[in-house]
Amino acid sequence: MSKAIGIDIGGTGIKGALVNTKKGSLLGERIRFDTPDESTPEQVVAKVAEIVEQLDSDRKTPIGICFPAIVKDGVTLSAANVSSKWVGLKAEKLFAKTLDRKVILVNDADAAGVAEIKYGAGQERKGLVLMVTLGTGIGTALFMNGKLIPNSELGHLEIDGVDYETVASFSAKERENLSFADWAKRLTKYFNQVDRLLSPDLVIIGGGISKQHEEFLPLIETKIKIVPAESRNNAGIIGAAFLARKRLQPD
Ligand code: BGC
Repeated sequence: MSKAIGIDIGGTGIKGALVNTKKGSLLGERIRFDTPDESTPEQVVAKVAEIVEQLDSDRKTPIGICFPAIVKDGVTLSAANVSSKWVGLKAEKLFAKTLDRKVILVNDADAAGVAEIKYGAGQERKGLVLMVTLGTGIGTALFMNGKLIPNSELGHLEIDGVDYETVASFSAKERENLSFADWAKRLTKYFNQVDRLLSPDLVIIGGGISKQHEEFLPLIETKIKIVPAESRNNAGIIGAAFLARKRLQPD
């Protein structure tokens, strides 16, 4: 069977599961820990090691890890919602060495987008597709005719002089106690700016809150076609596992 471990590291939680990479579905339970407060590389790597040990002791199972930062050639180049110690770190090597396994490391939104393009709401979609994850930050993944353009980072679009993920992410809604209607006003502003700049053919909304899409997607006033992700909160895990299997153990 085609299987791989997927790990999704976020600003608030670290989640992992074994994934059937043919079907894009979880094999068994998902394991979750809170992200340690300081979220330093040592602390995060230790939690990931615990998850991997609980999931599968077979050292040949490939591991895909997704992380909330720009990731180029295995190096984490930013750190918006995690410790600044990640900036410039050869993180993929660090994970591979500590876990003693083959590992690939990618941006979290890119992994979630790959899952949706491969198995979910973005299947067979031509043109420009944008995955937007609404969580601790705003993550984006850009696809042209199904091909990923990595590290797009459109959550940090500056609108009205502010980095817009600080006012329109799901954590901003929670922090400021916004109603869905008030949050949708901010998302309207965000998506209209995205539309002006990119004219996407489709936007797929992910992140845990996408489970409640009926509460806020209809309130966003934009001409962009917006749909909820199909794999909801597991898209990062599934996409990371798929990429690990594809790159580390190609059929
Ligand atoms: C980070 C992105 C990440 C997004 C979602 C942003 O703050 O810059 O790399 O994809 O949060 O976690």
